[in-house]
Amino acid sequence: ATERTFSIIKPDATKRNITGKVIDRLEGAGLRVIASKRIQMTREQAEGFYGVHRERPFFADLCDFMTSGPVVVQVLEGENAVAKNREVMGATNPADAAPGTIRADFAESIEANSVHGSDAPETAAEEIKFFFTEQELVG
Ligand code: CMP
Repeated sequence: ATERTFSIIKPDATKRNITGKVIDRLEGAGLRVIASKRIQMTREQAEGFYGVHRERPFFADLCDFMTSGPVVVQVLEGENAVAKNREVMGATNPADAAPGTIRADFAESIEANSVHGSDAPETAAEEIKFFFTEQELVG
């Protein structure tokens, strides 16, 4: 079924000016960008967005990193968009990511791993709402 997922192009990728290369991979996988904005995340946004990770040892570093430069937040639409996006991103740790995936080809580390993608349709709905209004989604 047609589905929506939420994506972030992270500061390591905006810093290297490779947002187009990342989007090319997403579009090449059949995903359509139906909303996109480049933003500087505030501390409050980073801590709120990654709230499920609050107790993890990497939480503070993660929030530091996500506020260290611009990010591009996007909504992607397509057949099985959540799973498809996860497939094209590759494993969280680039050392484990399959060849040809975004993280295998572009990520610098488990933290500076170039992209975020929702892990399930329910999470996607929440993450989309965190950054976008319904009117901003143009399919
Ligand atoms: P993301 O999909 O954005 O969700 C949480 C992020 O935490 C994850 O990608 C990683 O970039 C980051 N992170 C940093 N250290 C770790 C770790 N040890 N395990 C899992 N995620 C980590």
